[in-house]
Amino acid sequence: MANIVVVGAQWGDEGKGKVVDVLAPHADAVVRYQGGNNAGHTVVVGREKFVLQSIPSGILNPGTRCVIGCGVVIDPASLIQEMESLVQRGVSLDANLYISKNAHLIMPYHPALDRASEAQAGDRRIGTTGKGVGPAYADKAARVGIRMADLLDERLFREKLEYNVRQKNRLLREIYDAETFTVEGILGPYLRFAGWLAPYITDTALLLSRWIDSGASIIFEGAQGTMLDIDHGTYPFITSSNTTAGGAATGTGVPPTKLHGVLGISKAYCTRVGGGPFPTELDGAVADLIRKRGNEFGSVTGRPRRCGWVDAVGLRYAARINGFDTIAITKLDVLDACETVKACVGYRYRGEVFTDFPEEETILRDAEPVYEELSGWQTSTHGLRDYAELPSKAREYLERLSELIGVGCSLISTGAVRDDTILMAGSVLKRWYPGL
Ligand code: IMP
Repeated sequence: MANIVVVGAQWGDEGKGKVVDVLAPHADAVVRYQGGNNAGHTVVVGREKFVLQSIPSGILNPGTRCVIGCGVVIDPASLIQEMESLVQRGVSLDANLYISKNAHLIMPYHPALDRASEAQAGDRRIGTTGKGVGPAYADKAARVGIRMADLLDERLFREKLEYNVRQKNRLLREIYDAETFTVEGILGPYLRFAGWLAPYITDTALLLSRWIDSGASIIFEGAQGTMLDIDHGTYPFITSSNTTAGGAATGTGVPPTKLHGVLGISKAYCTRVGGGPFPTELDGAVADLIRKRGNEFGSVTGRPRRCGWVDAVGLRYAARINGFDTIAITKLDVLDACETVKACVGYRYRGEVFTDFPEEETILRDAEPVYEELSGWQTSTHGLRDYAELPSKAREYLERLSELIGVGCSLISTGAVRDDTILMAGSVLKRWYPGL
């Protein structure tokens, strides 16, 4: 029984939601371990499109239990809305959704602080989703955060809320000249949320440990991507959690010794939303083509995504940091129209070529990509389900990519729906999930 971590290898939006949805019927549970409602995991089932923000993508598979781990930050209003919308669309949550008692809450002052600090940041603006994720994690690290369990203890909740409202109001008023909050204005709605969420809140680390002991197979679903990791990403243009595989252990309470493998997900090209370095970013016709064909607009914010060629230097780094056993390449069909396709194999900076991912902010910002160019295939791969059916040039591209990253490919996605998927015979993924 495999416990597998699914991690984005780029700046998020790699298609983790779709891959998890494909794997979920072969697992007993799917667990989210970090991030919050800044994520937007798009899953298309039949003609229906679901965008999941805090709830694991496994929820669309009846019988797969879903857990929101302690490493996630939760905006209760947004979570309840997501739950209601799933229920309205016929998805069952009873005995299917579990929320960690230790997960921190996003409070109304967090999005306010997020927006206020962004408004003052000028060139250093991160381009956050504005959901309050960074400020909520800042409170967690500063040991003044409020957790799900506190929501169930009215006295303790009020005590922590009073302290925070006093502190945040000073910040909002004196530093940011922004609107302030009242304890009563937050207490009422949050106590109502508590009533709603109470049946789902539990000790999820204990639950997961019991499930694992009884032989369950668990998928750990990462949000965002490696390059947005707070320690290993393009700091400070990152999100505020550990998006990389190590986060799966700390963000759930499942020990690293119980994790069996890591699956990295990368698009056949690359995108980024928000500010920060992106060495292979393109503008002009190719970027427009990718954005249009790939529908590269943020699923949470609607922002147009920055688009570029695949960055094999970054992907090899992601493979090293996460310990990818195998990779999945998504959205191959988006490149069908390209005459040539390129992969970045080095960064040129002040006359030197770096083939190992540099961590220095200035090198990343000013580096020029060194490309390897391959011919495009200029024929439709959309919806193909068999590797042998792919045009030979597409196979050459995928094989070269795999070689550059240093990891074998297990799955190729050729479209949005579950079935637009090529599973590689004899791959690591097939070994983990023999029923695939
Ligand atoms: P935050 O997570 O809202 O604080 O945003 C920090 C950075 O991470 C910004 O550049 C966001 O655009 C980016 N980001 C956050 N969540 C996602 C995601 O789910 N996909 C892609 N980028 C994201």
